[in-house]
This record gives sequence, structure tokens and C-alpha cells, in this order.
Amino acid sequence: MTDNIKDKVIVITGASSGMGEAAARHLAANGAKIVLAARRTDRIDAIASELTKQGKEAIAVATDVTKRDDVQHLIQSAVNRFGRVDVLINNAGVMPLSRLDQCNVDEWDQMIDVNLRGVLHGIAAVLPYMKEQKSGHIINTASVAAHLIFPSSAVYSATKFAVRALTEGLRQETAALNIRVTLVSPGAVKTELLEHISDKNVQAANREYVENVGVAPETYARMVAFAISEPDDVGISEIIFRPTAQEL
Ligand SMILES: NC(=O)c1ccc[n+]([C@@H]2O[C@H](COP(=O)([O-])OP(=O)(O)OC[C@H]3O[C@@H](n4cnc5c(N)ncnc54)[C@H](OP(=O)(O)O)[C@@H]3O)[C@@H](O)[C@H]2O)c1
Repeated sequence: MTDNIKDKVIVITGASSGMGEAAARHLAANGAKIVLAARRTDRIDAIASELTKQGKEAIAVATDVTKRDDVQHLIQSAVNRFGRVDVLINNAGVMPLSRLDQCNVDEWDQMIDVNLRGVLHGIAAVLPYMKEQKSGHIINTASVAAHLIFPSSAVYSATKFAVRALTEGLRQETAALNIRVTLVSPGAVKTELLEHISDKNVQAANREYVENVGVAPETYARMVAFAISEPDDVGISEIIFRPTAQEL
């Protein structure tokens, strides 16, 4: 299983915590060369130096995915350091859930900018390199909220539905280019994602639920490792995973 991960250059956005961090550690343990991206540079620097001390190859690149130039710089840094990019994991995301009648327009904008525009920036930055290489793999992180809607999830779901649509379009358009495309849709996972919900009632309800049923972020790491580790002529188009106890 690990053979097709070893030595691959894997760029991960949102690698400073949660599922992105878990994926970075797991893929590094399987021999990949990791490029960690996020805004909290203290965190990604610490993870990269910890991995390096363990004899693995990892660098950290300060990146705000809402800024196209930052994401271009991220991919360029990966190419400068390792000579290529084999996998881009567009994982950075925010989820300030609230009901529409709260009119938290700034939070709506933030979700669109990070969850959707950030993924587009990643695709725009990496696709020219992957076309040139005639190989590559783009993994986008959606959510079960890309498949269903619940009160307070309308905008978050809208961004994740959009990522799902975009990912399928990307898959179709890159099929002939030897570029694999995977959508990963997690259910409840214990991470920092709920910390930024400004509506305290919504936050408390979600926190209680995730504390009760949520699975560890390493679950996501295993899913992306599976998609990457399959032979290059096998594309894992879509993975949905949930805690067994999660109904919706
Ligand atoms: N946890 C769940 O239950 C769950 C379920 C379904 C889907 N997801 C999705 O999984 C992904 C990872 O989330 P998580 O659960 O692991 O939460 P998390 O621990 O809060 O991680 C979110 C990551 O996104 C990064 N990020 C946020 N805004 C950014 C920006 N403007 N530029 C660059 N990076 C940014 C954060 O880094 P910095 O703040 O350092 O920039 C952090 O590393 C997200 O796309 C989320 O929507 C999570």
C-alpha cells in the first residue's frame, strides 16, 4: 500500500491542525515529501521541523489560500525544493455555521473565499505543472455537508456542494491528462473546526455532538493515503466517511 506514496511530493493546505496535520504526519511516515501550508506559521514550522528531525522530508510555507499569489508561491516553493508536485490536497476550510436570518455576511464571504475560492486557487496554481509532468493527483476536501443540508449549514453546504461539482468537472477534464482527482467527504471529525462558530448555541450543539460521536483526524489521513496509494491507473473519485454512529 505504501509504495505509491513513497517519494511523492505532497502539498497539503490547512496543515496546521486537524485533518491536514494528521495527513501530513501519516503521509510523511509513509515516505512522502511533505509541503505544509497554512497561515499559522508557528504550527507548520514546528511540524516540519519535527518531521525533519525524524529523518523525513518536509517544509512549511506560509499560505493564505484566499490569496491567489500565496497559493502560486506555495506551489512554486514545492517545485523549487523538490522539483515537482505529485499531489495537492486542498484541505483548508472554515465552518462558521449560522442560520441565514443572522445575516453573518462576513462569515458567508469567508466560507466562499476559503472553502471555494481557495480550492480554485490551488487548482489554478498546480494544474499547469501537472499538465507539464503528465501526471498528478488533486484531492479536494468536501464534507457530508456537500451531500446534505441542515439548518445553519446553508452557506457552508453551498460552498461544499460547489467543491463537489468543481471536483467532478475537474476529474472529467483531466481524465485524459493522467491526472487523478478525488473528493473526500468527511462526517464528524474531532478537530478545531468548531472553534470559529460565532453563534454560541450552534457551537455548543455541534461541539456536544462531535465530542460524542466524532472520529479522530487520522481517519481522514488513512482515506487520502488509500486514494494516493492505489496504482496510477486507478482513480478513487469519491470517498465519504462518517462515524458509524452518525445518522445524517
Ligand atoms: N472536522 C469535521 O468534522 C469536518 C467534517 C467535514 C469536512 N471538514 C473539512 O475538513 C477540512 C479540514 O478541517 P478540520 O476539521 O481539520 O479543521 P481545523 O483543525 O480547523 O483545520 C482547518 C485548517 O484550515 C486552515 N485554514 C483556514 N483558513 C485558511 C486560510 N485562509 N488559508 C490557509 N489555511 C486556512 C487552518 O490553518 P490556519 O488557521 O493556520 O491558516 C487549519 O489548518 C475543512 O475543509 C473542513 O471544512 C471537517
